[in-house]
Amino acid sequence: MAYLLQLARLFCWTVLGCLICWWPPGAKAQFPRACVTVEILKSKQCCPALGSDPGNVCGSQQGQGLCADVQVDTRPWSGPYTLRNVDDRERWPHKFFNRSCHCTGNFAGYNCGDCKFGWTGPNCDERKPLVVRKNIHSLTEEERVQFLDVLDRAKNTIHPDYVIATQHWLSLLGPNGSNPQVANCSIYNYFVWLHYYSVRDTLLGPGRPFTAIDFSHQGPAFVTWHRYHLLLLERDLQRLIGNESFALPYWNFATGRNECDVCTDQLFGASRPEDPSLISQNSRFSHWEIVCNSLDDYNRLVTLCNGSNEGQLRRNPLGKSSKFLPTMEDIRNCLSLQDFDKPPFFRNSSFSFRNTLEGFDEPNGMFDSPSVNLHNLAHSVLNGTSASPHSAANDPIFVVLHSFTDAVFDEWMKLFSPSASVWPQEMAPIGHNRMYNIVPFFPPVTNEELFLTAEQLGYSYAIELPEAHAWAIMVGSTIGGTLIALVVLVLLLVLFRHRRRRRGFEPLMNASFSKKKYTEEA
Ligand SMILES: *[C@@H]1O[C@H](CO)[C@@H](O)[C@H](O)[C@H]1NC(C)=O
Ligand SMILES: *[C@@H]1O[C@H](CO)[C@@H](O)[C@H](O)[C@H]1NC(C)=O
Ligand SMILES: *[C@@H]1O[C@H](CO)[C@@H](O)[C@H](O)[C@H]1NC(C)=O
Ligand SMILES: *[C@@H]1O[C@H](CO)[C@@H](O)[C@H](O)[C@H]1NC(C)=O
Ligand SMILES: *[C@@H]1O[C@H](CO)[C@@H](O)[C@H](O)[C@H]1NC(C)=O
Ligand SMILES: *[C@@H]1O[C@H](CO)[C@@H](O)[C@H](O)[C@H]1NC(C)=O
Ligand SMILES: *[C@@H]1O[C@H](CO)[C@@H](O)[C@H](O)[C@H]1NC(C)=O
Repeated sequence: MAYLLQLARLFCWTVLGCLICWWPPGAKAQFPRACVTVEILKSKQCCPALGSDPGNVCGSQQGQGLCADVQVDTRPWSGPYTLRNVDDRERWPHKFFNRSCHCTGNFAGYNCGDCKFGWTGPNCDERKPLVVRKNIHSLTEEERVQFLDVLDRAKNTIHPDYVIATQHWLSLLGPNGSNPQVANCSIYNYFVWLHYYSVRDTLLGPGRPFTAIDFSHQGPAFVTWHRYHLLLLERDLQRLIGNESFALPYWNFATGRNECDVCTDQLFGASRPEDPSLISQNSRFSHWEIVCNSLDDYNRLVTLCNGSNEGQLRRNPLGKSSKFLPTMEDIRNCLSLQDFDKPPFFRNSSFSFRNTLEGFDEPNGMFDSPSVNLHNLAHSVLNGTSASPHSAANDPIFVVLHSFTDAVFDEWMKLFSPSASVWPQEMAPIGHNRMYNIVPFFPPVTNEELFLTAEQLGYSYAIELPEAHAWAIMVGSTIGGTLIALVVLVLLLVLFRHRRRRRGFEPLMNASFSKKKYTEEA
């Protein structure tokens, strides 16, 4: 429901005018701990040394990288965010840093000390064996325990490399300009914070949020944003347990059932008998506290989430409702859509694979009025913390829900082998153009860099997804759809003319249409 509320809120954006543009832009971000000193923040150059030699900037002495200007997307965007230069996520990450490490070859990371996803070895030139993401119900007992344990450790371990800022960018250096407003947070809470930050409102003044902005949903970046988010978590977890082949499992939520088969004490926790919106005390997740949930407070105080605990995780799968999870037939229909995305590249795009997977379209790609399907439906069924984008990542089910969503995206990539050119270079909503740096990741990475098959990024899914029917692909594609529509039109015309000749012209309006519903007997 909160996903829908968010929608409703978005429709109210026009109420806010540019009258209030004078207010300092709200800003906050997450950056490498190595780059949050006063001098570095003032210089806008985040090019840390690799290792202990301060001269080894970006690993330049080993040829791993160089410090260079950050490239940002300057092409026009579309959609409801029509303000300019009031949100620090515009031209990301320029409000904070305009120089960063550019790594050579397959080196990567904020100091070029890592390899790109899928590569390993001292020179990052060896293919890493594919990390295989499995169905959560097919994990061995050992793997299941390993997964739940590492989530819990991540919830309680300070992130080794990244901190979050706790004030907007104009106040980032603190009241006296010499005290950077940053905080440590746990690896899992950092994962939550990233998602919150990408959907948070633009702060125009106390209690005056501009809500029509979303860097990770309602546009093409939905698929790449969540893919990168999971890759970062997966790598942090691999490091935490020292197992490079550790893989996030997925939850095939397309069961068509009206119960949640991962909401058990063996996995993410059953409902608590005395209060079904809380998690059973037999589950470790009943102790998890959520962060970044108080969006209204942040908006009122013109501040942002600082990672402090804000109460218990809530989940009420299905509640008393008669909702059902998506079905495999829905997935099949979605996979038959050939067009990656369609103008206006937004939540009302029709016959867009992305918008259908995200869940604003019917599973066959039709957009009528906003409906709740696939990914959105899975969130909405979980209810509670999972139902609102800013808080959803607090529930560990988010990880496996998005892993499955990414598996469907990957299947689509393998089916249609699209070129990068199917992704709009401009006139997608802000943050969703092909070359936009995905907000708020640092160092910068563009949507295009993630528009690959999972295999190219070093992982794969052990999954069998239903094959699309050939005719469905035909209908799903623009050209195919147009052709079929023409053929149907011609047939109708022929039939119409035939009938008209037989018994004289009879206006269609006079035809006696049955008032019966489709479900009734003819
Ligand atoms: C969540 O559950 C409550 C109580 O059962 C219900 O009123 C609300 O509509 C549900 N929200 C969603 C998104 O289903
Ligand atoms: C980067 O920002 C610094 C500090 O504001 C400024 O002095 C410098 O000219 C900027 N460089 C570029 C390439 O924009
Ligand atoms: C700035 O403020 C911080 C506390 O907010 C204080 O620790 C620090 O000493 C102050 N620095 C100067 C130069 O006044
Ligand atoms: C964050 O934690 C590190 C050690 O993990 C510590 O050195 C640093 O001072 C902490 N930073 C802040 C802002 O609390
Ligand atoms: C590493 O993780 C993989 C995947 O979860 C698992 O199969 C394997 O047993 C783990 N290896 C060790 C040494 O724990
Ligand atoms: C963090 O934010 C909460 C409200 O969101 C506030 O109550 C708390 O004082 C803040 N903590 C710090 C250390 O600023
Ligand atoms: C999509 O929604 C936007 C904003 O609500 C509106 O301006 C646009 O006309 C809609 N486009 C379509 C194709 O429905």
